[in-house]
Amino acid sequence: MAHRTLPVALLLVCSCAHEERGEVQAPAQPLSAASMERHFEEADAMRAAAVRGEADTVREVATAFAARISESTYPQPWGPSVQRLETVLARASTVEGAAQSAGLVAEVGASCGGCHADNDVPVAVDWPSEPSPEHRMDTFAYATELLWLGLIVPSDAAWERGAQAYHAALSCEDFEAVSLGPHHVSLCSSVKATGASVVTANDAAGRQRAFADVVSTCAGCHGAAD
Ligand code: HEC
Ligand code: HEC
Repeated sequence: MAHRTLPVALLLVCSCAHEERGEVQAPAQPLSAASMERHFEEADAMRAAAVRGEADTVREVATAFAARISESTYPQPWGPSVQRLETVLARASTVEGAAQSAGLVAEVGASCGGCHADNDVPVAVDWPSEPSPEHRMDTFAYATELLWLGLIVPSDAAWERGAQAYHAALSCEDFEAVSLGPHHVSLCSSVKATGASVVTANDAAGRQRAFADVVSTCAGCHGAAD
């Protein structure tokens, strides 16, 4: 199944971050904007695969990502944040199935957001473009992108907008048109349940859990539709 391409340069760090780092805090290569863009791409590839329910791809991307990180050396103060991401990625080899893939991806997102938040890294966001209202999957993809930004930046505004968009797309009736057999009813109720949890999640841990539930719900349906 095709997935939406993310707008290029979705996130920009404000230029003051570059200037202030100067000589006091040497700008280390592994934490450069270019390296972060690769982080973003790899984490995003994991997320897209998890939405499609492809645990193998999630594992593969995570393994390559972990290898790239382990080849770099980070300045000491960044150690704990880097380690947190490394520990999460190291678990990828044991991940099986859609639910565990979704959980891993959510944890990766929370680790990105954890480093940015703990170290006051300003990551400014360009919103993804509004979906066309007739296409429910566009709305779902849009909402998921915003929730994802909410985790990795981390951004309350992105999360809240994503939660609203997701919640607004929650009437399951339209799904009657899609042949999903016996999965229909239970998926409809899990879509509604995750809708409620994204709206109420208001801290990093709660959002990580809610994001895992959302991705797991997407994957449940996509897997069943194959
Ligand atoms: C160890 C800390 C750390 C971790 C972990 C981390 N980042 Fe970053 N991130 C930074 C720093 C520092 C910058 C600022 C880079 C700069 O502009 O010099 C940054 C900036 C960014 C940017 C903006 C880059 C730009 O174009 O200017 C993106 C996107 C980003 N991070 C994504 C991610 C993603 C996705 C992850 C998780 C897979 C992640 N980061 C994990 C420290 C971290
Ligand atoms: C109730 C079932 C169901 C749920 C839940 C679901 N999808 Fe889908 N999705 C489908 C079906 C069926 C297709 C393929 C047919 C279509 O495009 O409508 C699809 C296709 C897609 C596509 C490809 C659309 C295209 O234009 O090729 C994307 C992207 C997508 N879904 C994203 C998501 C995301 C993100 C979520 C979770 C927030 C999600 N979907 C949840 C049933 C579902």
